[in-house]
Amino acid sequence: MANDRPRVLSGIQPTSGSFHMGNYLGAVRQWVALQETHDAFYMVVDLHALTLPQDPRELRANTRLAAAQLLATGLDPERCTLFVQSHVPEHAQLSWVMECMTGFGEASRMTQFKDKSSRHGADRTSVGLFTYPILQVADILLYQADQVPVGEDQRQHIELTRNIAERFNGRYGETFTVPEPYILRETAKIFDLQDPTVKMSKSSSSPKGIIDLLDDPKASAKKIKSAVTDTGSEIRFDPEQKPGVSNLLTILATLTDVTVAEVEQKYAGKGYGALKTDLAEVVSEWAAPFSARTREYLDDPETLDSLLAEGAEKARSVAAETLAQAYDKVGLLPGKH
Ligand code: TYM
Repeated sequence: MANDRPRVLSGIQPTSGSFHMGNYLGAVRQWVALQETHDAFYMVVDLHALTLPQDPRELRANTRLAAAQLLATGLDPERCTLFVQSHVPEHAQLSWVMECMTGFGEASRMTQFKDKSSRHGADRTSVGLFTYPILQVADILLYQADQVPVGEDQRQHIELTRNIAERFNGRYGETFTVPEPYILRETAKIFDLQDPTVKMSKSSSSPKGIIDLLDDPKASAKKIKSAVTDTGSEIRFDPEQKPGVSNLLTILATLTDVTVAEVEQKYAGKGYGALKTDLAEVVSEWAAPFSARTREYLDDPETLDSLLAEGAEKARSVAAETLAQAYDKVGLLPGKH
């Protein structure tokens, strides 16, 4: 049955410890919904994490922590394939072929690379950081994904994936599905609480600007209450004039499963304080069971590891077939296996 369904694939880095509200509302929440309707593959992208220096023990712990959080949000290994990227060696193997299909100039235009490399300086920028988007291309194409559920900041990488898939298909014959981005307009970009003109991000926001899902609810409440709001006092969804209030409205509406218009209506005539107090409560009610479930998964690392091993096996059976086709198409001589 799963084979009749369109396929989705996505990934998240294990580098940040706790996921933040941008990761959840921008991407992971959609992953949970899509496992009901799609043949879904989701992974913790530990190879991508190596593009910046990592403490080995921390990386290992954060990879389990990321998987535990994904399960705690509602991903169900019976309904989706959940795995760790490095457990499926085909990712690194296809990535090489894709690197050889990508222009140097084309890779140089990736804005995330330009941002990160300018932040870290040329000497601390690895070649891996440069080729990072091409590994992502391989991630997606290996599974013949129809759609890729992500936040807005990943759009350029999906565009690159489409270009390379079309180039490969054009040169060697139909091989890869050309994927579409799956980006929900409302939650494509969740903003920093302290600077609502930039996205909420572990690498660039101050801790006060981020709602960490595993934070103590009191700490999150404090951050929400000191979120930068806008001049005036009217609660209105207006991302241009009122980016701070609009961001809070988006988070509240999405977490409570109502439209922004409904939330706007509910707070008509009320002050910013009421909105912040209610949002803090909603976040805390959501986060408490999420943290508890994450802890339960972490407390049983054997079960967690065996779920991930099963996921990797399922993923590998798909990935190996695609890799074999791609190797054959480009003219690599088959070896004995
Ligand atoms: P990563 O780990 O930075 O983020 C995981 C997901 O969270 C989304 N996101 C946001 N969405 C809305 N508002 C925000 N403030 C916000 N911050 C983060 C991201 O868009 C992403 O969907 N390169 C990817 C991981 C990756 C991948 C893949 C994704 C590797 N291979 C293949 C899709 C398909 C990344 O670093 O995401």
